[in-house]
Amino acid sequence: SDRRTHDIACMPADGIGPEVISAGVEVLKAIASADGTFDLTFEDYDWSSETYKKTGKYIPDGGLERLKKHDAIFFGAVGAPDVPDHISLWGLRLAICQPFQQYANVRPTKILRGTQSPLRNARPGDLDWVVVRENSEGEYAGQGGRSHRGMPWEVSTEVSIFTRHAVERLIRFAFETAQSRPRKHLTVVTKSNAQRNGMVMWDEVAAEVAKDFSDVTVDKMLVDAMTCRMVLQPKSLDTIVATNLHADILSDLAAALAGSIGIAPTSNLDPTRQNPSMFEPIHGSAFDIAGKGVANPVGTFWTAAEMLRWLGEKNAADVLLECTEKVCESGTVTADLGGSAKTADVTRAVCEEIRKAY
Ligand code: NAI
Ligand code: MG
Repeated sequence: SDRRTHDIACMPADGIGPEVISAGVEVLKAIASADGTFDLTFEDYDWSSETYKKTGKYIPDGGLERLKKHDAIFFGAVGAPDVPDHISLWGLRLAICQPFQQYANVRPTKILRGTQSPLRNARPGDLDWVVVRENSEGEYAGQGGRSHRGMPWEVSTEVSIFTRHAVERLIRFAFETAQSRPRKHLTVVTKSNAQRNGMVMWDEVAAEVAKDFSDVTVDKMLVDAMTCRMVLQPKSLDTIVATNLHADILSDLAAALAGSIGIAPTSNLDPTRQNPSMFEPIHGSAFDIAGKGVANPVGTFWTAAEMLRWLGEKNAADVLLECTEKVCESGTVTADLGGSAKTADVTRAVCEEIRKAY
């Protein structure tokens, strides 16, 4: 048959992860069946803080080789109240992102119709950004150490690593992203006044790569001033590129400015496509609301749309995002967006819109 098939690894992991990922699978199945030109298959992975507490490992022996066979990974969130966050993050999420060289972390943010930005004057269309984050090294390279633990003279180092290879490939990807968007505008964020080595190299590499993208307008910002610009002049920004740490922080700010941490998606991409890419909502495991059926699934639906786009299903991706936005506009939203709908209500409404859309 000439039907396309995409094989998805589902990894809900912790907290509200299982609630939002099962909602996401439901809408993905609805869109594949309504669209009719492609099939999705799903395989469940139970890797989580629960399996870590039982077995001492987040990823079982041989696990990454199994995971590598899939076309994409649909991930919930990892983190549990009784496991230190650096153990869970390095044990599962970074243990997948780093060996799979998912070096581009892409975080689109916009004000969805029917939702409200905390910025008094911002309407849908006034804030429409993509943050491209370096996802393989930088401040999160894991270089450093601790000596004299617990002593008053203890020392610790956390060393940032910036390689020309990784900076160049990421900045090139950011230019391509900017080029693919209508405004063709890229803002390069560093802190090259205070950090005079790695950040100055970033600026130099950006200036070199810019020569290959004459149709993209570039500007430069220091990260501290960037926070002000995001709040005060959201319309002046489009695509944004920054280091692992800086873009981690800026993208959370972006999600909050767009209205809720519950709506935003993240893609961890290996642009060479040698390894599967991983797609997840931006939020964490939210143990404060886990098990109550009230988690906002919109971030996961947008994540699912980004995954479909990466797999080549552009039309289905557009339809899914449009249907999700329609449901927000209709007022079927969870408590974080000021409504009273449950996860299941929003999911049902989006599936219904999908059936109407085809
Ligand atoms: P969080 O995103 O889990 O929660 C922050 C706040 O936002 C909470 O009040 C939560 O209820 C709310 N929230 C988050 N997602 C929501 C949704 N879909 N619908 C409605 N409300 C939502 O961040 P927090 O509390 O800092 O971290 C909790 C755990 O998650 C930690 O263990 C942390 O390490 C982990 N984490 C994991 C991430 C990942 O797997 N990529 C990302 C961020 C945090
Ligand atoms: Mg973060």
